[in-house]
Amino acid sequence: MDLTHRPRRLRQDRVRGLVSETSLEPADLIAPVFVDATTDERRPIETMPGHERVPIDEAVARVEEVLETGVEAVMLFGIPESKDPEGTRAWAADGVVQEATRRITAETDAYVITDVCLCEYTDHGHCGPLEEELRGEDVTEGGPACDPIRTVDNDATLEALDRIAVSHAEAGADMIAPSGMMDGMVAAIREGLDREGFEHVPIMSYAAKYESAFYGPFRDAADGAPAFGDRRHYQMDPANAREAMREVRLDVEQGADVLMVKPALPYLDIVADLRREFDHPVAAYNVSGEYAMLQAAAEKGWLDLEDVAHESLLSIKRAGADLILTYFAEDVAAALSS
Ligand code: PBG
Repeated sequence: MDLTHRPRRLRQDRVRGLVSETSLEPADLIAPVFVDATTDERRPIETMPGHERVPIDEAVARVEEVLETGVEAVMLFGIPESKDPEGTRAWAADGVVQEATRRITAETDAYVITDVCLCEYTDHGHCGPLEEELRGEDVTEGGPACDPIRTVDNDATLEALDRIAVSHAEAGADMIAPSGMMDGMVAAIREGLDREGFEHVPIMSYAAKYESAFYGPFRDAADGAPAFGDRRHYQMDPANAREAMREVRLDVEQGADVLMVKPALPYLDIVADLRREFDHPVAAYNVSGEYAMLQAAAEKGWLDLEDVAHESLLSIKRAGADLILTYFAEDVAAALSS
């Protein structure tokens, strides 16, 4: 055979590393941590093997476990001791995330990112206070018949997000990550942080967050499923890609520092589009359903968990993500450093 081009030449073991286009490092990863104010012991999350909700007293110990693997950043989610229609525990100075943040930043070197949203704090489970005509209705069971576009009061939510972000920054959060997909959320939070002297605190916006069925296990983990309806009137339609660019552009105009796509694997085209269109760091959230399906297949012996986890994260980086928020963070980082 007279073959000039033989790509296999560069696949030999001693040269593979030299020509590798993508690398994965523990420093690229962010580990989600669930802090639960309703419990005083660690509780495994059934739908997410290997993860648990930890009480506030265990938050520092939990974060130290993460740091031992080489991962340097955590994303905190809180489960409050009580919920109400406005989600007032979300901005309480002694709230679960605020308290955990104070302790973690005082006692560890972790870079602490906080999720800013209301769905874990409202009794109806939506990502903000409801529109006026719904207030006082029984929205906890089944829900009222309503125009789904009019459930969450966007502009009232912005005021709450401003308060939540400031309360997290006051507790010591290093970065604020709004995930509610409200119009204007980045501007509202930037304004709040700057007003209170936190102009150095960056915002990682869940800029293109889709209304995805892959969030199922998380909603069990964080107890944040909507009691009625769904989130399709604020989260994006999985059918749309150009709309993601529009969403992201708005967040950039409002001052977002890091742009996130969520979920990751089913939306790698969006990650790649974002990488091409913007110069900001791009983050991707490898969500609970992406984690759970690999865990389930591995449990059956159908996939090798360590290999598929590594390949999944590598794919997300190859598509253009600089940082990855993933439930595999600790396992993959530990494997990388061993
Ligand atoms: C809340 C929030 C959700 C996730 C992160 N923040 C759930 C939702 O929007 O319903 C999902 C994360 C995951 O599935 O891993 N706004």
